[in-house]
Amino acid sequence: MTSTQIRQSFLDFFKSKQHTLVQSSSLMPDSPGLLFTNAGMNQFVPIFLNQKKPDVSKWAGAVPGLDTRAADTQKCIRAGGKHNDLDDVGLDTYHHTFFEMLGNWSFGDYFKREAIDWAWELVIEVWKFPPQRLYATVYNPDKSKNDPSDFDQEAWNFWAEKFRAVGLDPAVHIVNGNKKDNFWMMGETGPCGPCSELHVDLTPNGDTRGALVNKGDARCIEIWNLVFIQFTANPDGTFSPLPAKHVDTGMGFERVTSIIQGTKGFTDFANARISNYETDIFRPIFDELEKLSGKKYGSTLPAKQFPKPLITSAACRTSSIRGRNTWSASPPASGSNFPKPRARLCSRACSLGTNSAATRCMPRVSCLITFIFFSSRRSKSRTAKASRSSGRSPS
Ligand code: ALA
Repeated sequence: MTSTQIRQSFLDFFKSKQHTLVQSSSLMPDSPGLLFTNAGMNQFVPIFLNQKKPDVSKWAGAVPGLDTRAADTQKCIRAGGKHNDLDDVGLDTYHHTFFEMLGNWSFGDYFKREAIDWAWELVIEVWKFPPQRLYATVYNPDKSKNDPSDFDQEAWNFWAEKFRAVGLDPAVHIVNGNKKDNFWMMGETGPCGPCSELHVDLTPNGDTRGALVNKGDARCIEIWNLVFIQFTANPDGTFSPLPAKHVDTGMGFERVTSIIQGTKGFTDFANARISNYETDIFRPIFDELEKLSGKKYGSTLPAKQFPKPLITSAACRTSSIRGRNTWSASPPASGSNFPKPRARLCSRACSLGTNSAATRCMPRVSCLITFIFFSSRRSKSRTAKASRSSGRSPS
């Protein structure tokens, strides 16, 4: 499957479950606590907090379904604040400054049962991930540390039914996780709740029995996070229950694509090349960079070679996406209209220094490029807003 087909099949699947398909929100968040949009749920915060009634079917550009269900692909940047992937960018095969998060939401509608049923149906029955390679995590609070909420027995039971139904042992395939990994918060304050993640064993034999889950190992990566939003985190560190229970999920589009494409549709794990950079999402960017730089991307991991090509391509994608704030459900094929001046700028970043100190700086360079583009956009939009309110035209 191409990445475009994967994205579309996610959206089609949730449309068939009566979800309204909404546009990705802007990368410039409304929430004052966020530097960039860092999750698909950001645009729904007022609904979760009961400040606004769910009305997604009436949103601009929506493909209407129920008002209490939504799905989309959201542009995200995690380059600061509570969710900051910057130090991993370019040093592994699956973190980026910019990425797409596929998500589905329930606003006081369905809860854990359907969220888990549909996650299983899409991943196992529609996409055909091998179930024996799948691990689900559930929240297990450390009460001695005053962690909020209780052990998520309900989620454990629903996952257990799924694994048992295909002859797998839930005691092996369900892994308990702590507050850091299994209690999701947007930021220090705001909607939050226990979560259940799906991880995939990508080793040649797929026989690690959960030992690599949440160990920061590229051979077993998280693909989907199912958050059961039930609380709001207060500035004083306490958690208040929300009037209704919600579902907020986020799937790593580039990761799912890397697994499906890297294993040739799950037919070959022994010779698999599973890296987000080895997908049709990044290939057009590498093609352009190779043309501009005259150098070939070697498909090697950072330990064997400096990570500049990875960081540069990630920076290119981040800065190129900024200009396309209008797409969501049907974006153009990624990289297809990649702007050349930005590729040049990024390829210049690529040529900065080859010693290890400079190499270590590269995540910051990519962040800097992103920041420059965004801050110019931000100040332009502020000028436009100020001019509108004062009746002047922007200069
Ligand atoms: N909001 C959740 C996340 O970003 C789904 O992981």
